[in-house]
Amino acid sequence: MSKRPQDHWGHKARKEGYAARSVYKLEEIDRRARILKHGGRVLDLGAYPGSWTSYAAQVVGPRGKVLGLDLQEFKGTLPPHAEIRTGDVLSLELEKELGPASFDTVISDMAPDTTGHRFTDQARSFRLFMRALEIAVAVLPAGGNFVAKIFVGEDFHAAQQAVRAAFEETKVIKPPASRTESYETFVVGMRRRGKPTAPPSSLAEPAVVSGPPRIKKS
Ligand SMILES: C[S@@+](CC[C@H](N)C(=O)[O-])C[C@H]1O[C@@H](n2cnc3c(N)ncnc32)[C@H](O)[C@@H]1O
Repeated sequence: MSKRPQDHWGHKARKEGYAARSVYKLEEIDRRARILKHGGRVLDLGAYPGSWTSYAAQVVGPRGKVLGLDLQEFKGTLPPHAEIRTGDVLSLELEKELGPASFDTVISDMAPDTTGHRFTDQARSFRLFMRALEIAVAVLPAGGNFVAKIFVGEDFHAAQQAVRAAFEETKVIKPPASRTESYETFVVGMRRRGKPTAPPSSLAEPAVVSGPPRIKKS
């Protein structure tokens, strides 16, 4: 197998101490759409190995909060206002556990294990995208923001339409750090439609309601 040409973004990530080159995708998305706010609460779906979580934690600062979730167990280090828990976003009942208006921004870089069969990969990516959107609609207050990755395929239009229905403005962003040959792109929803919702009384523990923990803490 031929080696990839020198990867500028990979080198930059290593030099700047991020776990993955993906961080520059979020940086570009946020530069163009301003979805992360100082002091904000961010839900990061498909967070492993943690570069989006680290970046979001820097932007929101210690008065904010970042909760990441991934199938893979995270063993790295994050600042105290950020954490990554282990769980399957497709099967967890996150809406019930997290509650309405529990986050200001939902970001999803979730991607399926690719099979090499383009239509299968696109269909799986669409499913993850729609699940991220479903969670965002449930946990964001009016005015909240959303971004999720999707592999562009025949369902792409439906995905965009679904974001349009829930958010006042949408953007499609393919950041330079995303490989040109990759058919991934990001759909952003800015300002969730709907009446303003009161935030939960405690911002310190917005993540999980009482009862047996369903999201495994890493
Ligand atoms: C491209 S990586 C995320 C990279 C991450 N944003 C970063 O910057 O470090 C995609 C992740 O999605 C996760 N993923 C895929 N399906 C998932 C699911 N159903 N529930 C939770 N995580 C999932 C994978 O385990 C993988 O770690």
